Order: sequence, then structure tokens, then C-alpha cells
Amino acid sequence: MLGIFDSGVGGLTVVKELLRRHPSSGFIYLGDTARTPYGNKSAETIRRYAVEDARFLVDKGATTILVACNSVSAVAMDELRKEFPTIKFFEVITPAVLSATGKKIGVIGTRATIGSGVYERRLKERDPNVEVISQACPLFVPLVEENWINKPETKRIVRTYLEPIRRQQVDALILGCTHYPLLTKVIRVSLQKRVKIIDSPSALMDTVEREAASELVDGTQKYYFTDPSAATDAIATKWLGTMIKGVRAELA
Ligand code: DGL
Repeated sequence: MLGIFDSGVGGLTVVKELLRRHPSSGFIYLGDTARTPYGNKSAETIRRYAVEDARFLVDKGATTILVACNSVSAVAMDELRKEFPTIKFFEVITPAVLSATGKKIGVIGTRATIGSGVYERRLKERDPNVEVISQACPLFVPLVEENWINKPETKRIVRTYLEPIRRQQVDALILGCTHYPLLTKVIRVSLQKRVKIIDSPSALMDTVEREAASELVDGTQKYYFTDPSAATDAIATKWLGTMIKGVRAELA
């Protein structure tokens, strides 16, 4: 069975892409809303949280786990694979790196993701001559969660964060955070038209379809949150366009 987890609601962008391609696919989603955000916490703390999140899904019967959170994907994959050797994990960084073509690549993400240097390392492993321009955008997550997506303030903030990347005339921009696909339109108008925007949910689902097609089977769809609330249900319902009622998850 397919398990998906994230630090909170952001991983629903992965669920949205999964459901767009396979509307009846069964899965369990866990959002650690009680402890979100992860993106400004230490790598050590993120690793501990990630293991607890994965354990919850494994105890519920997950055999394949999609790590929707970039911050977890950046710092905790070794830990997860060591702790759960029989589980097949997919993270969001490798698929995005493989989709990003060009000589100059921009990467945006949380402080944890950008601070880890993982995108830069991976992109340079693929092509030692690539130039990588990275930018942490810590204000993007709260703006998305407050649904300030089309506000003029948000447009200004996005433009300010992206200005160094725009000036460098990148060929592609990796949206290295679960929430950023919701800002795609605003990001797009802040950059040159020819820039290819890579979003992790779609890159991840391409990989899952290729490497774990047998897990994409019809079944029940269950949403767990460590701090379920009416506000969380409202965001999930709005993003997914279908009524979501989260269930409380007690992590061991
Ligand atoms: N899910 C996180 C990520 O993709 C963003 C939200 C957070 O900081 O927890 O990095």
C-alpha cells in the first residue's frame, strides 16, 4: 500500500498530482501539522520527525512511501532507509534534478533544503559544469497556507526573492518545496518566459509510475494529521477540490 507523508498540508500537492493521474488510487496520507514547519528546523530534528512519520505509515500497512517533503528528502533519506530496510522510499529531489536541463539552474526551497546543499550537489554530480543559483524563500510557505496566493504583497515578495535568479538568466527553476507549485503562476511572471519550471510532485509521479506502477491500485484514501482541525480540512478540501476530513494520528 502507498503511504505519503509531509510536514503538514504541503504534501497534498503530491496527492493532487497522484489523483489527477489515478483518481481512484488508494493511499494513506500523513501530515505532521502539529510540528510543521520542518523547513526551519535542524537536520537532526527533521530526521527524528521523519522516522516517526514513516513508522506511523508502516504500522498502518504502507509498503511504499512517497516522501513529499523536500526538507525531509534533503536530510533524512539515509536515516529512513536504514530504519526501514524493507520499505521502498521515493523522495522528491532526484526526480526534480533529472528533469532540470540547461547550463544554469535556479533552485528555491526552505532554509533546511537550501542549507543542505543537496540540489546543488546532485545537479553537479549529473553535470559538473552546471551553474546552480539557490535561494531560500522562507516566507512562501506561510503565504500559501494563508491562501495569499494572488495578493499584491505576495507578488512583491516572490519578485524580491526571485530577483537574483532572474538576473542570472537561468534555464530552469526547481520548485524545491511542497507548497511552491501553488505559487507557479506568480513565479512564472517573475522570470523570463523561456525558463522551464520544474515542480516536484509531477517529477515524482513520473518516477513512481515508472518504478512502482504496481502500487497504483484502486483503494481507500485516508488522510491523517497529527493536529487535525477545521482549518486543515478547509485547506485540504480547497486544494484537492473534494471534501476532506482528516483523522487524528498518534505518532509513537
Ligand atoms: N514540506 C516542507 C518542504 O517541502 C515545507 C513546509 C515546512 O517547512 O515544513 O520543505
